[in-house]
This record gives sequence, structure tokens and C-alpha cells, in this order.
Amino acid sequence: MLHTRYHDCDMPVNRTPADLDEHTLAPLADVERELERWIDDAGAGGDLSPALRDAMRYAALGSGKKLRPLLVWHVCHAAGGDPRHALPAAAAVELVHAFSLVHDDLPAMDDDDLRRGRPTLHVHAGEAMAILAGDALFSLAYDALARGYTDATTSQSLILELARGAAGMISGQVFDSLPDADERPEGLAAVERVHRNKTGALIRASCRMGAICAGNADALAPATAYGDALGLMFQAVDDLIDVEQDAEHTGKRTGKDADAGKLTYPGVVGIDETRRIIDRLATTADDAARRISPNAAALNQLTSYLAARDR
Ligand code: IPE
Ligand code: IPE
Ligand code: MG
Ligand code: MG
Ligand code: MG
Repeated sequence: MLHTRYHDCDMPVNRTPADLDEHTLAPLADVERELERWIDDAGAGGDLSPALRDAMRYAALGSGKKLRPLLVWHVCHAAGGDPRHALPAAAAVELVHAFSLVHDDLPAMDDDDLRRGRPTLHVHAGEAMAILAGDALFSLAYDALARGYTDATTSQSLILELARGAAGMISGQVFDSLPDADERPEGLAAVERVHRNKTGALIRASCRMGAICAGNADALAPATAYGDALGLMFQAVDDLIDVEQDAEHTGKRTGKDADAGKLTYPGVVGIDETRRIIDRLATTADDAARRISPNAAALNQLTSYLAARDR
């Protein structure tokens, strides 16, 4: 279980259910160490503010499901690569994800005071520090990709992939938070546009980066299909969690999306149809995972877990 790996941290952790086996969870300890290594090294040779480093640690270490690093790792493994080679990429995606959460919670965005069972960074350290820590996490991600790989072609491909994913995520946050800023499609297409970008883009990038780390060009198309289905499904489940769960269980505020006028699957098609959509996306993801490799058990297991998760 995930929480036993963080036995030395006194905060509640987003627990990963026991149906992910030891093999699937095995990379978590290495991922945590890799993240810590990059954060401790941030601004090397310069004058990084210790308070900024503390804020970065608060946002990125010790909790969270670390789904995106698991995807980089397991796609790399399924595509025939040495997954240890995927560690800097796994850390880089998680750094961008951590940045996205810090900014997502800000008063100007979702205005949330609880994340991963503890105060959000702007509540803990102030709004200016939260904005700046988000900025610093974002730039550190590219530092990790530039210095984490000796092969310049791999490094460049990973940087490009993460930059595209981050741009999609940020656009998705605009579609989500400023729905009238652009022309928008109607109905389900509008929800899909938000979700494929704000959440799907980084999940797709994680899967593609796993294939790039493996050096397996043939795996790129199925890894993309897997990431696209999983990413959309992940946010559909997040929408359900907002409707069905409470903050004590999830470690973040719930029941907020409808009041905030957010475009969500349950809001547009209802809960039952949302569940059917999740099922269909899980099947699509599983089929794509098998095209990466017939032995992609960890990827299929992640699909099942993410389709059924309740936090
Ligand atoms: C939450 O992501 C934000 C969304 C994209 C829905 P996660 O559910 O992966 O958050 P952590 O990292 O486990 O806290
Ligand atoms: C967040 O979506 C997506 C990103 C952080 C990019 P939500 O706003 O639904 O995520 P939660 O519910 O706060 O985790
Ligand atoms: Mg949001
Ligand atoms: Mg939010
Ligand atoms: Mg949400």
C-alpha cells in the first residue's frame, strides 16, 4: 500500500488501493527519491531561496498518487526499455503536475484550501510564494530533462513532449476556468475539450515519454492511444469523485464543480452515462495497452484501478 511507503511523513496520503500489486507500485520509492534529488538540486550554482525550496518540497513530495510517473515507468517497461532510464522523465512530469495543482488551487482559480489532506500551498505559505513555487517547479521539470539524459536526442524529444503536454494542460485550464474567453463547442464536445486538455494532455505526454525513454518508435502510437483514453477517463472519474465523495475521504474539497459552473461529465450527461463512458474508455485503454505489448499487465491494472478509484 502506498501509505506504508511514506511511513515517515505525518500527513494523510492519497491512498492507492490494494488492488495495485507490488510490481505496479514498486517504482514509487525511486520516483520519490528522484523528485527529492531534483528539488534539492534546484538552482544549483545559484542562490535558490530556501523558503522557495521548502514550498517546492511541500507541493511535490510525500503524497499524491504519483500516477503520471507510474505511467512513464510502466509504458517504458512495456515498450521494452530499462525503466530506470525513465526516472528523470517521470520526475519531470510529476513536477509539472505538482505545479498545475498549486496554481489550480489558487484563489483566482478554484480557490481551494485543502489538497492531499493538508492546507493548499497558498494557505500554508501565502499566495505569492505559491505562485512562485509553481513557476519554479515548472522550470525545474525542464532542468531535469535537460540534465537527466546524456543523449541529446532523447532529451530534446522529452522536452518537446512535456512542453506540448504542459501547453495543453494550461489551455485546458483556460477552457475550464474562463469558459467565455474563447468560442466553445456545445454539449459533450465542450466537456471533452476541457478534459482532454486540462488533464488528458499531461497523461498523454507521460505515456509518450515512456515510449521515448524506451527508444521504441513503434510503441509511440499505441502509447498515445492508451494515454488519450486513460486521460479522458481519469478526469471523468475526478468529476464523479467531486459529486460522490467527501473531503475527509479524498483529502480535497468536493461538491464544488456544479456550484462553480464547471463543465463536467455528470453535469452534462448524468452519472449513469458518465459511468458508461468510463467503461468504454477503460476498454479502449486496455486494447491500446495490449498493442504496446502483450505483457502490459501493469498498464491494464492501472486502467482498472483508475476507472474505479474513489479518491
Ligand atoms: C488531480 O490529479 C488533478 C486532476 C488532474 C484531476 P491527481 O488525482 O492525480 O492528484 P494527486 O497527484 O494524486 O494528488
Ligand atoms: C485540475 O482539475 C486539472 C489541473 C490541475 C490541470 P480539477 O480542478 O478538477 O482538479 P482537482 O479536483 O482540484 O484536483
Ligand atoms: Mg480546476
Ligand atoms: Mg481544482
Ligand atoms: Mg476535480
